[in-house]
Amino acid sequence: LVVFLVVVSLAFSSLLEDIRSRGVLRVGQDAGYMPLYGTDPDGDRIGLEVEILKEMASILGVKLEFVIVNWDGIIPALMSNKFDIIWSGMTITPERALKVNFSDPYLTVGQAILYNTKKFPTPPKLEDINTSQTKIAVQLGTTGAEAANRLLTKAQIFTFETTDEAGFQVASGRADAMIFDSIYARFVAKKYEQLDVTDELLSMEDLGVAIPKGDFETLQWLNTFIQWLKTTGKITELEQYWFVE
Ligand code: ARG
Repeated sequence: LVVFLVVVSLAFSSLLEDIRSRGVLRVGQDAGYMPLYGTDPDGDRIGLEVEILKEMASILGVKLEFVIVNWDGIIPALMSNKFDIIWSGMTITPERALKVNFSDPYLTVGQAILYNTKKFPTPPKLEDINTSQTKIAVQLGTTGAEAANRLLTKAQIFTFETTDEAGFQVASGRADAMIFDSIYARFVAKKYEQLDVTDELLSMEDLGVAIPKGDFETLQWLNTFIQWLKTTGKITELEQYWFVE
């Protein structure tokens, strides 16, 4: 009976307990999605989500570890236990929710058009970029790629592994525009003089934290943590520091 109970309680130990007894919170992210996360010249992870994760690790009394994978493989990597959570600007979608459980949203973003002003002197509308002459850059496996494939049926769509590779195509003039989350689009547009972002958004999306399915204890704790980040004004403070108008 004792053996049975030990086996049963091991089988039901939550992710949160695992993280605490291991002493390490393993977070899955891809190379970068500034200002949510990226790497500074010293190789340290920085950004709004990195600060949230540091806060989370300190509350749990554990160390923080980043596991970097390609964006298009991030859900399979979570499912095969390469890390504990995905906290990396992931849009909550019903399709993804068939594979993972999502926390409550902590940020809302929209799909924006990041464009090269040499090609478009004024903000382009959807119909301006939906032509066979327009080259659109997207990141593989993103909701931006999905939106581009759905809305820009006539344009030439080019897919890249990372956000910065896709963004750089537009900055260098090899692509005319990129469809991506407004937060990143605004950040990149500030970095390169020849880039700008449409105010009008193609869609609205909630960002959430993803964990393996069926662990409602951990999900409940994450939702409590997120609610606390909102009510205490911590998220707003971080937005004011990291976000670009
Ligand atoms: N929010 C978008 C999505 O979920 C883009 C996320 C891209 N994230 C990243 N870390 N590169 O598809």
